[in-house]
Amino acid sequence: MTLLLKVDALNPDREVIRRAADVILKGGLVAFPTETVYGLGASTYNDEAIRRIYVVKNRPMDNPSIIHISSLNQLHEVAEDVPEELEEKLKIVWPGPLTIILRKSSRISAVASCGLNTVAVRMPAHPVALTLISESTPISAPSANISGKPSPTRAEHVIRDLWGKIDLIIDGGESFFGVESTIIDYTRKPPVLYRPGPFTVEELRRIFGEVKVPEQALGLGQFKEALAPGMKYRHYAPDKPLILTECGELDGLVKLTLDLATDEVKKGKKVVVLCSSETCGSYAKVGFRIIEVGSRLNLYTVAKNLFHSLRLIDSMDVDLAIAEGYPEVGVGLAVMNRLRKASGYKMVKCTA
Ligand code: TXA
Ligand code: MG
Repeated sequence: MTLLLKVDALNPDREVIRRAADVILKGGLVAFPTETVYGLGASTYNDEAIRRIYVVKNRPMDNPSIIHISSLNQLHEVAEDVPEELEEKLKIVWPGPLTIILRKSSRISAVASCGLNTVAVRMPAHPVALTLISESTPISAPSANISGKPSPTRAEHVIRDLWGKIDLIIDGGESFFGVESTIIDYTRKPPVLYRPGPFTVEELRRIFGEVKVPEQALGLGQFKEALAPGMKYRHYAPDKPLILTECGELDGLVKLTLDLATDEVKKGKKVVVLCSSETCGSYAKVGFRIIEVGSRLNLYTVAKNLFHSLRLIDSMDVDLAIAEGYPEVGVGLAVMNRLRKASGYKMVKCTA
């Protein structure tokens, strides 16, 4: 049986969070909001509970979860050999949507680390998540979706995927950023970006200096070896097919998208276009169904609505979705990484 508790994201009722913390401490599974997406959490020190996460998510057993902490003391509990200079930097960037891969401490079991000698750690910038951890223990949590589906950014997404399978869902409204945390591997020199997220490459380089950005982290290089065990799996995808259009120039992008949509309609397909506030009118006025994802003037709005938009595709009476691409700057890098994966790498580019 699943219990649903509503809280105010910015000022959560401590009694409600204590109830949830109690569920974690007793070995239960709690879905909770973070600033990125909802997580499905269990105590990092309870192997049985962590195994249950894999069962309910249908997650491959070799894909480790991020350990969520609420203090730097807990960092030393879960990780070893944390460089001093890194700790100073973490005081600046945490809490925040940045996950760091470090050597694991001996307290972390083979189940919690999936047998690796490293752990991914982050301190979430969300009052609900932070209070939940500080009232319980470090929490191992992947995103609270069925494996392969878009990550949940609202409690309703968690309810759809996991109702009846977990103990508690804390509804704290919409996640602030809407895409998962940035991940860097700090056991490598220079640090390597594994997953782009709300903490941008530009910000990373300003704080950490040189950071390597391999092709795979962009959502390209899909034929190359996975950077980390979990990255070889299909991610974020709606059930219906999605094609991504890419063009450096906006008029060209709209033309490319319109031509493609028109071709598909001629083949008898029902099409929906995922577009921006600046471009949606061009499709709507010729009769296409649209999902407005956000504004090109602020790509954080696109990030925030992206996974909800991907989930909407499956609830609509359409056969195919076509999504416009975005410039790969700032959080646009994370948006494009998720869209490429969601499309199963079906990408169409303009010739110009
Ligand atoms: O924003 C987020 O990161 C959200 C919220 C809930 O915190 N969590 C999240 O978890 O997106 P998940 O499990 O969906 O993605 C975690 C990624 C996986 O691709 C996994 O392979 C990678 O982190 N990962 C975890 N531990 C790792 C390790 N030791 N080495 C390399 N990659 C690791
Ligand atoms: Mg996930």
